[in-house]
Amino acid sequence: MISPIRDFLQKQYQEEKFMSISKGWLGLAALAAAGFQVSALAQSAADHDVTYNGAVGKIINENCVVCHREGGIGPMQLTNYDQVRPWAPLIQMRVANREMPPYAYDHGIGIQDLEGDWRLEQDEIDTIVAWVNQGSPMGDADVVVAMPEMNDPSEWNFVSQFGQPDTIIPSISIDIPANGNDLWSNHYVPSGMTTDRCIKAVQVKPRGDAKAVVHHANSSVVLEQPDGTLERQSMLTEYAMGKWGEIVPEGVCRTLPKDAIVSWSIHMFPGGVGATAPGTMIKDNVVEIGLWLHPEGYEEQAQYKQDLALYQISPQEDIAIPPNGYSMTQGFHSFDHPVRLDSFQPHGHLRMNAASLEIFYPETGRTEQVSQISKWSATWHHSHIYNEDVAPLLPAGAVLVLKQWYDNTADNPNNPDPDMWVMGGSRTGDEMTHAWLAITHLDDEGYEKLVAERQEKQERSLAGND
Ligand code: HEC
Repeated sequence: MISPIRDFLQKQYQEEKFMSISKGWLGLAALAAAGFQVSALAQSAADHDVTYNGAVGKIINENCVVCHREGGIGPMQLTNYDQVRPWAPLIQMRVANREMPPYAYDHGIGIQDLEGDWRLEQDEIDTIVAWVNQGSPMGDADVVVAMPEMNDPSEWNFVSQFGQPDTIIPSISIDIPANGNDLWSNHYVPSGMTTDRCIKAVQVKPRGDAKAVVHHANSSVVLEQPDGTLERQSMLTEYAMGKWGEIVPEGVCRTLPKDAIVSWSIHMFPGGVGATAPGTMIKDNVVEIGLWLHPEGYEEQAQYKQDLALYQISPQEDIAIPPNGYSMTQGFHSFDHPVRLDSFQPHGHLRMNAASLEIFYPETGRTEQVSQISKWSATWHHSHIYNEDVAPLLPAGAVLVLKQWYDNTADNPNNPDPDMWVMGGSRTGDEMTHAWLAITHLDDEGYEKLVAERQEKQERSLAGND
């Protein structure tokens, strides 16, 4: 018979192993190579006693605390057992439904290898679910669960990766009342650029409490023409509620030109939307763009240009969603040159609940599913950045097929009024149908080179597994 202590130690040991797998320290392939039965181990973790100090605390510290701590955007703190315990049933529900962490991107459909993906692994979800089913025990009181290092919540999101932004461009401040109708602020500010530069990363950040009331804040690059008129050049960046930021892949240039003027278009919803809405007046609301730039001269090195642009899915005026009904939009885009699709961010408002992106290849008649978001919510806008090794490469003429779905029934938790007709428009209660795509524009030579590089990588990794 196994003694209770030995049994306990063995479980602790298995939990340790299990954490290693789920956090990828050893890597699944390495474990499999070492003869571990990976799936059997994950299963055993869900079956036997799971504790906060053993496995759960680590998952929460690494995936939740960044928002659920003092000054974070989450409505409660989850930094230790005493804080987590009272929320256990709600945590179980939100985690099992894949609503927390907030990153609604479907598993098992299309490209899964994304930069800045917040989703938990299935075995992490199983562990949390099993823990709550077992009464959410603390486990060994002597164990202290490690807390990963984190930026201050008011910091820029990319500080640990790239340091402080090279430049910050603030909007003009505006006071937002505690309630009332949608507000917009459109104005120009200088960028301060004295030479042409390539953008490495960008984040838009409403200061302080403004997070809950700034629905979107778009910025474009404008240049003054010799005759004194202002001419729009390109999109600088897009921000919508809940967005983390954008990273431009290495080797391409998203240009911010010398003497650029930034044109802001900020849409605010007084009182706020979502569970963290403060419902209070916000004085001096300022939205800032943090920009991380490549060194001067990068433009000559970077062979291809990348841009972010809005791709309309159907004409805005065609949107008409009946009361207690559903709707769907579909749109097509193609390019007369080869491109690489770097990121995908669908956009809609409170009735929109799903989005997808496919590519149709006319030469073969094949349609490829790239991304699907079945539980989309307007409170979380994500720019889904495809890992460089898997970002779709489109030959000239391939067709992007964009679809979005709308639910105007009472089943949609974001729906403020299912008895209203919803038309296309800019107000939060209206609907929109477009997607933001970051695209690297290639030529035939660049396209063939990337295709060949990928093939070579694939062959090498296949050979490596032999
Ligand atoms: C990017 C920030 C962020 C991350 C990461 C995050 N949360 Fe949240 N969480 C929020 C915000 C904001 C809300 C309130 C709005 C909402 O419900 O969407 C919330 C709401 C919740 C709620 C519901 C509270 C209520 O009163 O209904 C639970 C439970 C929760 N989070 C648990 C978790 C757990 C567990 C994790 C990690 C596995 C996690 N969250 C990760 C930001 C975050």
